[in-house]
Amino acid sequence: MQKIKIGIIIGSIRENSQSGRIGDYVAELLHQMSDGIEPMIFSLRDIELPFWTEDKWKADSEMSAFWKPHSQALKACHGFVVIAPEWAGMAPPHLKNFLLMCDKGELAHKPAQLIAVSTGMGGAYPIAELRMSGYKNNFLWWLPDHVILRQVAGLFASEKPTELDTALTDRLLYGLAFLVETAKVVAPVREKLQNITLYKNGM
Ligand SMILES: Cc1cc2nc3c(=O)[nH]c(=O)nc-3n(C[C@H](O)[C@H](O)[C@H](O)COP(=O)(O)O)c2cc1C
Repeated sequence: MQKIKIGIIIGSIRENSQSGRIGDYVAELLHQMSDGIEPMIFSLRDIELPFWTEDKWKADSEMSAFWKPHSQALKACHGFVVIAPEWAGMAPPHLKNFLLMCDKGELAHKPAQLIAVSTGMGGAYPIAELRMSGYKNNFLWWLPDHVILRQVAGLFASEKPTELDTALTDRLLYGLAFLVETAKVVAPVREKLQNITLYKNGM
């Protein structure tokens, strides 16, 4: 049977970011859930994506050539986990740039689990922002249950999980199970109905 590929998009470009650490934790949980799931990490720090210019619309540009292998890897995914740190009450511009780059159906009509992280008590703003503006033309399909990991540096960090670690891990597993099952059932629907040539942009 074909493996279900889940792309984990790490929205921070910081070295040793908490988003990256949580991304690794999510990949581990997906591995534990089933060996039929293949997590693939897309770290914006490693990808070093340039900021969007109109060159993205030119097929023969350096930017299009740069983007092509990432586009293909994303197209191979059935669903996504998007990890967004809160930066100055916003989703990082690099993450918005990434979502803007995805204009060839890479994310289209695929489910996504949204996770916000904050070293403080934040995390609500990037959720609100991405739910409002992160999906219109790339057609990413946010699942209703997002997760906010506040005071993230202390989470999943001790050898013996704390009570909070266990509660948050259970919640993550709940969301990831929904993500994987939705990714499976939506794939044939996407194949049957999707027409992003006719409806290239959302309203
Ligand atoms: C430029 C910048 C701005 C930040 N602003 C906020 C903020 O508004 N609210 C908040 O809760 N945390 C803020 N933080 C702290 C992040 O919550 C913290 O860096 C956390 O580890 C998530 O980011 P990371 O994945 O880059 O590590 C900010 C961090 C940076 C680098």
